[in-house]
Amino acid sequence: MEQITLENSTLKVSRLCFGGCPMGGHGWGDVSKAEVIKAVHSALDKKVNFFDTADIYGRGESEKILGEALRGRREEAVIASKFGVRMDANNKAIYDNSPQWINETLNNSLKRLKTDYIDLYQIHYRDDKTSLVEIVETLEKLKKEEKIRYFGLSNLKMSDVNEITHVKSHFSTFQNEFSLANRDHEPVIFKSTHELGLSPLTWGSLGQGILTGKYDSQSKFDSNDRRSRPIYKNFHGEKLQHNLRIVEGLRNIADQINKPVSAVAIRWILDFLPGSVVITGVKSREQLEMNELSLGWTLDRSQVSHLCKIFNTEVTEIMNSENIGVM
Ligand SMILES: NC(=O)c1ccc[n+]([C@@H]2O[C@H](COP(=O)([O-])OP(=O)(O)OC[C@H]3O[C@@H](n4cnc5c(N)ncnc54)[C@H](OP(=O)(O)O)[C@@H]3O)[C@@H](O)[C@H]2O)c1
Repeated sequence: MEQITLENSTLKVSRLCFGGCPMGGHGWGDVSKAEVIKAVHSALDKKVNFFDTADIYGRGESEKILGEALRGRREEAVIASKFGVRMDANNKAIYDNSPQWINETLNNSLKRLKTDYIDLYQIHYRDDKTSLVEIVETLEKLKKEEKIRYFGLSNLKMSDVNEITHVKSHFSTFQNEFSLANRDHEPVIFKSTHELGLSPLTWGSLGQGILTGKYDSQSKFDSNDRRSRPIYKNFHGEKLQHNLRIVEGLRNIADQINKPVSAVAIRWILDFLPGSVVITGVKSREQLEMNELSLGWTLDRSQVSHLCKIFNTEVTEIMNSENIGVM
């Protein structure tokens, strides 16, 4: 199993992380709990030991299912969860990093996960009110109480980097969206990896599924699937066309080396960002097993740069055509 030790920690994890957002079943179309639990067991059997979830995924349902799946096998797993987004009295999502909320939500997460500790506790989003120093103080206290082991950040912006520099040794990881469908965060990912010395975890690593090669321009999603909404740009308009050209490039390589398109998309991240962990959302054992085929080999340099080139060429073309439209 291809593993790494996360920075500033003793956590040894597989470079493929089981993403728990779809298992929450909220806005991801139909998901079978029994099938997801089988996938978790299959992951553990193959030493894919890293699981990412959040208190907010499926309003707690994701943590609940993960806790149920890990019953009797807790010690084999490294659990990453998150805090920082909650529903207010009007059922509207708000950001909250206050010590009160961290304490309350952590206790609920532990109950749902049926565990005494979370290995990696991550700030999901900053609330722009609570200082990082105050968050770190709260988390250090929880570490002393042995409710969490290490902590991380997510959705970093370039403007966060200075503030983090002063407390960087307290953190192990950060997670941002990154894939061949979305390289918007590449500058902050490089800066945080090299200047802050944190381990990068990538989310949306399959572009929410578009980079698996199973969708085309005719694909439709049910109304209970968030990807039906134009805000999920990877599946709409010019961005969809751009992604389908990237999929063509992935498929050419996949056919030559006899791997699934999804495995090549994941491998590109693993090779492009050494020291990273790729999180992929998984709904079934079959999907997990396909994603595991990304591990234990490498793309050669020319394949990595060929895929970069397809991304860049197409982006330039899109930008040019958008500019023409604006003019
Ligand atoms: N920090 C954050 O703010 C944040 C935000 C989002 C996600 N995340 C984390 O990152 C994880 C990954 O991101 P994501 O779930 O949004 O997107 P993703 O991993 O890019 O895509 C996941 C979707 O792709 C499809 N899929 C996965 N493997 C497949 C395979 N081998 N063959 C065919 N289809 C496959 C599944 O959906 P279908 O079968 O329905 O197509 C799955 O739900 C999440 O689960 C979560 O843990 C973090």
